[in-house]
This record gives sequence, structure tokens and C-alpha cells, in this order.
Amino acid sequence: ATPPREPAVVLTPKPSPRPRINGPRVFGVRPGAPFLFAIPATGMRPMTFTARNLPQGLQLDPVSGLITGQIIQSGKYDVKLRAQNRLGAAERTLTIKCGDTIALTPPMGWNSWNCFGCDVTEANVRAAADALVASGLSQHGWTYINIDDCWQGAREAGIIHPNPKFSDLKALADYVHGQGLKMGLYSSPGPRTCASHEGSHGHEFADAQQYAAWGFDYLKYDWCSYGMLHPNPDLARMQEPYRLMRKALDEAPRDIVYSLCQYGMGKVWEWGAEVGGNAWRTTGDITDTWSSMSGIGFAQAGREAHAGPGHWNDPDMLVVGQVGWSARVRPTRLTPNEQYTHVSLWCLLSAPLLIGCDLTRLDEFALGLLTNDEVIEVNQDELGRQAARLRQEGTTEIWTKPMADGSTVAGLFNRGAEEVGIAVAPGDLGLEGKCVVRDLWRQWDLGTFAGPVTATVPRHGVVLLKFKPLRPKR
Ligand code: GAL
Repeated sequence: ATPPREPAVVLTPKPSPRPRINGPRVFGVRPGAPFLFAIPATGMRPMTFTARNLPQGLQLDPVSGLITGQIIQSGKYDVKLRAQNRLGAAERTLTIKCGDTIALTPPMGWNSWNCFGCDVTEANVRAAADALVASGLSQHGWTYINIDDCWQGAREAGIIHPNPKFSDLKALADYVHGQGLKMGLYSSPGPRTCASHEGSHGHEFADAQQYAAWGFDYLKYDWCSYGMLHPNPDLARMQEPYRLMRKALDEAPRDIVYSLCQYGMGKVWEWGAEVGGNAWRTTGDITDTWSSMSGIGFAQAGREAHAGPGHWNDPDMLVVGQVGWSARVRPTRLTPNEQYTHVSLWCLLSAPLLIGCDLTRLDEFALGLLTNDEVIEVNQDELGRQAARLRQEGTTEIWTKPMADGSTVAGLFNRGAEEVGIAVAPGDLGLEGKCVVRDLWRQWDLGTFAGPVTATVPRHGVVLLKFKPLRPKR
């Protein structure tokens, strides 16, 4: 059936010209690893940045807001960030935790697969980095530029080289880092990747060293042909290649986010953290249909116990904007409300947020979906609690996520084909007394409620509400 045409209503307000500091409030780094953190801030330029209590070994560029260097001494550092322009100033504390855990909040960035598939080129990757900055997305915390499958060329004397579509990966990573962004790539524990390129089997340590030498910050490690070596793996066998690459990454002189991709086999969420994954795919590949996206998203219920700072369930990448898995991109087949459901649910789930669209073709609607700081804050909250399903009634569902500030965010979802009213009261969320209730997409307060709030939720849509108790629990 052809879905009814819906207007693509942009709910996200335009950012204020006054400074606002966005992005994570907590950032993990290992001692001695190269440090790179660009303070994400919206507001009119020129802007000047300062940082009080920066740990020894770090420097801040006051014009770009880029913090670089190296921390030698493990510890927890509360850094006071300040951004100032002609119209005002904003402050925020960034807690830097120098220890053994990175990815303290879910990684946010872009990945080439859902847009360009195997046709990805160096020019696409550079353009994606440029667009992440030019569109303003990086000011909202979007950071990683990840090349998926199909960058690999020949292996010579054990050393992996890119294919001719990529002239120089070191130069590319330097270029991306120069913009305050980070760089990711993809391999397989098998001899071949899913698209039949050279995998890492038997070369794990050399590859990890090579990725670090090029300057990569993120590795997606995809099972693929490993299954041909071991057709009916038991649990130990499933874990083995992931443990091996973990060891190899530990020896690399950089912080590299380690993203496991094996489609959820062996209930990976139960052991992904133990084998050293920072994230693990819990599902097969997503595609841009309602049944795929909602089927995957709503099936995450019950997995919330396994996610937390440094280790995240990954229900796969975003399919908003222009996608296509090839050089020919086209608009996502998700309706506007389905896209609000997609982004809201992924934020509630504390999922890694990897934009899968062509960033050079963002329209106002896609930009609105990806630049709502109050919605992104749900994803980046420092407690790192993944939302749980509170209630399911017919085709409506309520999912809730506790936040560090004592509030609870509730997603009121309508999986049905007709508009419905969904009601929820602070008491249902375990909150006492009156709450200020805020609509996060529209960024406005609905009022103060002790009893139920009823929201009208469109077909396949969502209303995302934050309940903040007037008197927080001690
Ligand atoms: C699949 C993976 C996709 C993409 C693709 C590349 O196995 O799930 O996300 O990485 O391989 O060939």
C-alpha cells in the first residue's frame, strides 16, 4: 500500500546566534594516546574558547576550540569550557576521564555504507568531512568520518594497501583531523570482507599498527568470511577473532573505537563488552523501510542491561536523508514521521549514531533531524543508560530513559496506521510529585504536571517528552 503523503515538517528550532556548547559532557582517553576533542558549539562566529583546569599536556586553540595534546597522568579532570561571541557566553563542564575506557558516550558521525556502498571514493570521504563542518553538524557533536567496506587494495609483504580509489590514507586522515574530526575504517576477521576485499585474517597485529600509523580512530570489524573458516562456531569460536583484534588494538599507539559487527550472533550483547568491544551490532543490516527500521529498533527491548559508558548496543546506522548503497543516491523511503521515530528511538537506545546519507545533499528536513541538541543530549547523556520499554498496548509503546540530571525522557511511539492519543503520568515513570514536561523536538515546555499528559501521536510517529521533577529525589 502506498503510504499517505506527509508534509516534511521541521520541528527543530534554528540554533541561536548566542553561544551554546553541545556534545558530550564526559570524554574518555587512555594515558599517552593522542588527544583530539573539538568543542562543539553553535552560535555566531567569530567565537573565542577558553578552558580552565585543562590537564597537563593538553592545549586549546582559542579560535577553533580544538583541544589537542596528550595526557600522561591517569585521572578525572573537570574542565570548565567557555565559548564567547559578541552576543554572550556559554559555559559547561567537560569531564575528561583518562584511564582505560574510551567511547564514554555513544560515538556520533558518518559512515559511507548506506549512501555509497562499494562505490565509495576518497573524494566522497573528503566531501563528507567538508560537509559535516560546512552544514554545522560538527557543532552539534558529530565527529567520526568512517569509511566502510571497499577501501582495501592488495596486501604486499603482509602490509595492507588501499585500492586506487584512495590515493593516500594518511593524508586523508590528516585532512579530516585538521577539521577537528576523527576517522574510521572497516575490516573483517576473515580472509575477505563482505564485499570480497582483503580481510585481516592472520594479519591482525600488522593491520592494527597500520591503521594507527595512518591515524585512524575507529574500526568496524565485520565477521563476513570468518564464517567460512568456521561454519558452526560455538561461543568461544565466535569470540576468538574479536578478542584477537582487541589485543592488536591494545598494542596500537592510539585510541581506536572498536565496533563489532557480527549481526547479533550468540547474543553478542551478553559478551561484547567482555571481549573488549566499544559497540556491537545487535542485528542484520538495516534498510530504509518502515518494517526494517521499526522491526530492528523496537526489538532492542530487554538489552538495556548490557549497554553503558564504553560499551554500546548498535542497532545499525541511520537511514535518513539521501541513501542508496551506491554512487546513485535517492531520498530515504521512510516518511517524515518514521524518520522522527528512527532518530528518537536511536537516541533513547544510546545507540552509536552514524549518519548513513550523502552529507553533500542534506535538505532542511534532514538537517533538522540531525541538529536538535536537546534530542542529541538524550543519546549523549553521561549516565549512558539505554531506554527500556515501559509499556506496550496494541500498536503504541512507551520507552523511557533515566538521565543524569534526575529527569526521565519518555518516547511515546505509535506503530499503527492511525493517529492516536498516548497518555503518561510522572508516577508511571517512577517520578514523585510534579514535573516540568518538555517536548524535546520542539524544544518547548508543555507545562507542569502531576497527572497524565496526553500527546497526539501521528501514524508511525513519536512524541519525545522530558519529565523533570520539580523536587528531584535525593
Ligand atoms: C555487512 C555489514 C554492513 C556493511 C557491509 C559491507 O556485513 O553488516 O553494515 O558493512 O557488510 O560489505
